[in-house]
Amino acid sequence: MSIEVAQRLPRATDLDRTRGTFAEARTLPGEVYVSEEVLRLERRGIFARQWLCVGREADLPAAGDYVLKEIAGDSIIVVRGTDGAIRAFYNVCRHRGSRLLDAPAGRGVTRVLCPYHAWSYNLDGTVQTAPRMGDDFCKAEHSLSPVRIGFHEGFIFLNLDPKAAPLATHFADLPDLRRFRMGELVCGKRIEYDVAANWKLVCENYSECYHCAGAHPQLARISEQISRDERGQEIGDCFNGGPMRLRDGIETMSMSGRSTLPTIPGLSHDDTRYVHYYVVYPNMLLSPHPDYVLVHTASPVAPDRTHVVCEWLFTAEAVGAKGFDPSDVVQFWDVTNRQDWALCERAQAGVGSRGYRPGPYQSSEDCVHLFDRWYADQLAALL
Ligand code: FES
Ligand SMILES: [Fe+2]
Repeated sequence: MSIEVAQRLPRATDLDRTRGTFAEARTLPGEVYVSEEVLRLERRGIFARQWLCVGREADLPAAGDYVLKEIAGDSIIVVRGTDGAIRAFYNVCRHRGSRLLDAPAGRGVTRVLCPYHAWSYNLDGTVQTAPRMGDDFCKAEHSLSPVRIGFHEGFIFLNLDPKAAPLATHFADLPDLRRFRMGELVCGKRIEYDVAANWKLVCENYSECYHCAGAHPQLARISEQISRDERGQEIGDCFNGGPMRLRDGIETMSMSGRSTLPTIPGLSHDDTRYVHYYVVYPNMLLSPHPDYVLVHTASPVAPDRTHVVCEWLFTAEAVGAKGFDPSDVVQFWDVTNRQDWALCERAQAGVGSRGYRPGPYQSSEDCVHLFDRWYADQLAALL
């Protein structure tokens, strides 16, 4: 990677061509993929201000179940309380700021204990004990600092910005996906990946199938792209996306092209013939299939490193069945994911070069442009 590019911020004018009309547009400038400065801005202006998917309510089935999530450099505790509510707090003691919890997840804890001077907190964030702090110490003034939390179709979202619009308002124009019953679906498989590429390359790659014929023979064999004219454009303030069609005789995205799992109940015939792909900004990739929902979240670790969590959600009936075996669909997307990460890593190797110039979009890459344009608008506002 060119050191010069890695240390630069793009100028707002460098983003103008990405923000233009599709026909005229060019891809993003190289700095956005490699610069530490850009990642700093993204953390402050995007990841610390927007609603981010951090998991599923079902990940925390009982009181005292918690997970730690890292957002924009902050550690956040997401915990289910004794009243059943899931809350989120900064993982920071209100005495002298010690980090509280270290284990990335836990089950059935009864309190949060600070290892430094042994203040302890209830699961709703209130102080339980603060040893020898004296009679005039006011527990109520020293509850853990809360983080905003919202829920949508079984997913948990956090937002570090106290002034952000509520999740429901933010998601007002998200397509109505209730028919996929995501709130009832159960995670049947989760794989985490460490990808040596910028998080935006992961989102861009997800948004087009121009590369599919060459890179994903197993995918191209069972599903086909639909022209923009035929599918229309699905776009809102918080997302973009579109469907692909399953080829005749194909039942779902799996190695065999067959589905051995129950279809999500109540879907229309049309819904059993298409797979939908949505990027929910900034970094949630949501793909409803006829018999499962695939979800990726792509979180930046460094300009050239992304942590991707991939989950397969199935009907409770499927996961609860004796001999539940999702390997046909898991293997399909695991193979496809790894092919994609190799492409993203290849792109990462080029976009930081002195020789990189923003290029044109191919006609089927309209969703890449929508993502890039959304991003360019965000970044331009931060420069
Ligand atoms: S810093 Fe936590 S109890 Fe002192
Ligand atoms: Fe791909």
